[in-house]
Amino acid sequence: MEKLNAIITGIASYVPEYILTNDELSRMVDTTDEWIRTRIGTKERHILKGEGKGASDLGAPALKKLLEKTNTNPDDIQVVICSTTTPDYKFPSTASIIAEKCGVKHSFAFDIQAACSGFLYAMEVANGFVKSGLYKKVVVVSAEFMSSIVDYTDRSTCPIFGDGATAVLVEPTTEDLGIIDTELHADGVGLPYLMLKAGGTVHPTTHETLEKREQFIHQEGKTVFKYAVTCMADVSESMMKRNNLTHEDIDWLVPHQANMRIIEATAHRMNLDKSKVMVNIHKYANTSSASVPLALADWESKLKKGDKLIMSAFGAGFTWGSMYIKWAYDGSEVNK
Ligand SMILES: CC(C)(COP(=O)(O)OP(=O)(O)OC[C@H]1O[C@@H](n2cnc3c(N)ncnc32)[C@H](O)[C@@H]1OP(=O)(O)O)[C@@H](O)C(=O)NCCC(=O)NCCS
Repeated sequence: MEKLNAIITGIASYVPEYILTNDELSRMVDTTDEWIRTRIGTKERHILKGEGKGASDLGAPALKKLLEKTNTNPDDIQVVICSTTTPDYKFPSTASIIAEKCGVKHSFAFDIQAACSGFLYAMEVANGFVKSGLYKKVVVVSAEFMSSIVDYTDRSTCPIFGDGATAVLVEPTTEDLGIIDTELHADGVGLPYLMLKAGGTVHPTTHETLEKREQFIHQEGKTVFKYAVTCMADVSESMMKRNNLTHEDIDWLVPHQANMRIIEATAHRMNLDKSKVMVNIHKYANTSSASVPLALADWESKLKKGDKLIMSAFGAGFTWGSMYIKWAYDGSEVNK
């Protein structure tokens, strides 16, 4: 059998309408637009508003758009993988809810939880399915309703996160394109530094946990920052070395959008000019696992067949990783 590679054949994104600006945040907590822009790099973030909403209300519009854009019949989708840190429910999976909302009836569906590295983890799973030859149309939906777990009285975390979703279609090819190499890591040392303390089996929600606001993100920013800088830079450099790539070979770095200073440190280690780095943190803030594919979606029209991309991410767990892909189509053709 000919060797199969997994390629992205389409991408779509969805962000909710409401934009929460730094100025609005600075009326909610003791912060300033200047502090957020210089320490994080964010100007605004999109927020999902309204009662009874969940991550599937972000993921489903992204998947619907993808199906339309790629002219894909929902009946042909065989696998739906959803990366999310903010599932609609503990169970069933958000993937199965999104599939139902999009009329995808003949696939199996499941979630992946790897925090901000979720897209890379999900893509590696999709890669395995497609490369095996068993599945020909796999979708990876990354849906993050981060504002549902952000404490808007905590100035150290509330400027960081935003809501958004993406959907990508992954299919096989025999060409030398698509996912070429992946390096993923996890280290449970990260648990105390970035977590949601209550609502799981260890600390189920009680009046006490609610009083302590433990239903919201807990982060020790300085420690997370140090790990993120080291891990993202290390894994990106490792990806270059493993594939004998120099900075000249790489067309684009697609970094997780957590903090502008983490992105700059990664690009610096790779010796990459900033013109090759996709940055949209100013518009969306940190949308967890949706952040890498949101950048891909924003840049789609500029991407050319054969472009060499390195995607790198870091998140709670800790989880981190990097993926080297050769882009499979001319984005300008899709976005005419
Ligand atoms: C959160 C983060 C932006 C804070 O930046 P920092 O430079 O480390 O800031 P510090 O936590 O050292 O705080 C410095 C000061 O700013 C203050 N501060 C924190 N948030 C603030 C805000 N929104 N506005 C104004 N001041 C703020 C702190 O209280 C502290 O004041 P102090 O020195 O009087 O105690 C940074 O640590 C970070 O980006 N961490 C990684 C976050 C991340 O990437 N998370 C997701 C991983 S996927």
